[in-house]
This record gives sequence, C-alpha cells and structure tokens, in this order.
Amino acid sequence: MKVLVTGAEGQLGWDVLRELDRRSVPCRGVDREDFDLTDGDAVKAYVQEYVPDVIVHCAAYTAVDQAEREPEVCARVNGDGTMNVVRAALSVGAKMVYISTDYVFSGEGEKPWEEDDPYDPKNVYGLSKLQGEMAVRSLMKRYFLIRTSWVFGLHGKNFVRTMLRLGREKTEVRVVDDQIGSPTYSADLSRVICDMISTEKYGIYHVCNEGWMSWAQFSRMIMMARNLACRVVPVPSAEYPTPARRPLNSRMSTRKMKDARFAPMPAVEDALNRYLLELEKEGKNF
Ligand SMILES: NC(=O)c1ccc[n+]([C@@H]2O[C@H](COP(=O)([O-])OP(=O)(O)OC[C@H]3O[C@@H](n4cnc5c(N)ncnc54)[C@H](OP(=O)(O)O)[C@@H]3O)[C@@H](O)[C@H]2O)c1
Repeated sequence: MKVLVTGAEGQLGWDVLRELDRRSVPCRGVDREDFDLTDGDAVKAYVQEYVPDVIVHCAAYTAVDQAEREPEVCARVNGDGTMNVVRAALSVGAKMVYISTDYVFSGEGEKPWEEDDPYDPKNVYGLSKLQGEMAVRSLMKRYFLIRTSWVFGLHGKNFVRTMLRLGREKTEVRVVDDQIGSPTYSADLSRVICDMISTEKYGIYHVCNEGWMSWAQFSRMIMMARNLACRVVPVPSAEYPTPARRPLNSRMSTRKMKDARFAPMPAVEDALNRYLLELEKEGKNF
C-alpha cells in the first residue's frame, strides 16, 4: 500500500505522515509547493506520477473567520479543490479519505450529531466543507469521510497552545462556555485514519476524542494540567463576536466507528496529557 497525504505541513497531515512512517507504510506528503489544490491539471499530473493506493486529503482552507470575507476562495479550495483530488484518485483507482467537520451541521439542539443527520451549515467554511463532502460522495465508492472537531496537533497553531501562552502571560482569560464539543488530538485521529485505510469498511464516520465540554471547560483542563494560575472566566458566545457564526452544539456521536470495530478514541484529558508531554519533548511548549 502506497499513501499520498495532502496538507503535509498542516496539523493533521503532519501527524498522519508520522503515523504511516511509524507503521512503515510507503507514503509521501504534499503541500502547496507541490501543487495547488485548485489547479486540477497539476493535481492529476502529480497523482498519476506517484500512483498511490490511498489519498488522505487533509489540505483545506481552514481560516474560518477569514472565509466570511473571501467565500469564493474558500469554496474553490475546499469544494473545487476536493473535486480535483477526487478526479485524480479515480483516475488511478485510489481509495480516498476526506476530512470534514461538525460545521456541516446547524449546531442547534443538544443531541449528538449522527453521521446521516441533515446538513445545515451556518458559515462559509462549513458550506465549503459540505461542497467537498458532496464531491466525494457523488463520484466515489471507496471513500472514508471522517468528520472531526476542535483539532490540536504538534505541528501548527491551535487552541491548546494559545491557552498555554495566555496562561503564562495573564491572570485571567475570558473563554466561551456555551459551545460544546470534543477537542481532538490529531495523533489519535491519525491512528484511526491509518487503521481505516487498510480496511474496506467505507463510509462516513465521526471520529473525535471521547468527552464533550465547552471551550471554557477545556481551558480549565489545560491550565490545571500545567498548574497555571490563570483564572478562566466563562462567557457566552454573544460576548465574543466573531465574523463566522460558530455552532453551539458540536457534540458528535462516535457510535458508528465503534460498531465498525475501530479502536475507540481515548478520552480528551488523556489525549491532552499525552499532547503536553510531546510538546515538551519537542521543545515546543509555548
Ligand atoms: N483544525 C480543526 O479544528 C478542524 C476541525 C474539523 C475538521 N478539520 C479538517 O481537518 C483537516 C486538517 O485540518 P488542519 O487543522 O490540519 O489544517 P491546517 O493545519 O490549516 O492545514 C491545512 C493545510 O492545507 C494546505 N492548503 C490550504 N490551501 C491549499 C491549497 N489551495 N493547495 C494546497 N494546499 C493547501 C495549507 O497550506 P498553507 O499553510 O500554505 O495554506 C496547510 O498546510 C482539514 O480538512 C480541516 O477542514 C479541522
């Protein structure tokens, strides 16, 4: 099995490549300097030269607030760009993994989202990721469509690293307390991705670390894990306006992946503690 990973310099792509290496799976990571996702000919030429058995498509336009100002660019990368990857995968008969998000749902109610719940994205990024899902679902049969949430990884900026920095610099931080979801460690998600691609159990799966919490609760968990004496003040989303509307309910049901006998994801606290140790080992603490 030979695997091509897009978004190799992003949080998730970087960890997927690390996990494939650990398993001695032949693989290659690509990013913007290899080809731009929006250039269909370039994507196809690259894929036809490497001829992977699997493409793990982690690259995406992920600047959620900026997307509200440039919806066309966002749709071109996440919608048309994904279609380019789908066509290239089909041209060499490769399986595909597409990474999507809870933002394809409305964020209403309190019930955890199931894989076949109706779509209703409320921001530009969510709509563009839905366009990517449609490209995969409409043309492919051999795909894993994985929805995840609140990703943190070793390679790149994320909420945990921001909180570690603020926890050192400030005595108090105000964090939203009415958006509920599951923070997800990209190394844990990468393990599931690598397990999935060696099977034929295609379909849509929700994969997040176990446990739902608000951003404020997650902040407290981070401060406590590193004994940072910074007070976390919970605030409603209304007090922290952002250009893109965020879903209040990002709870995702992970029952389907467990029913399919994929190893369950560890609890959020366990994931966070391992992540913090890795950050320290790599000297990337803050
Ligand atoms: N982060 C989250 O909380 C979260 C939650 C749910 C789902 N997801 C999904 O998970 C996947 C991985 O997310 P992530 O956090 O690893 O993202 P990330 O760190 O932002 O990495 C995305 C990568 O894609 C590359 N890219 C963007 N536009 C491109 C283009 N036009 N052509 C080629 N490469 C391009 C970026 O390169 P540049 O840096 O050069 O732009 C970057 O290396 C994405 O599909 C995302 O939508 C993420």
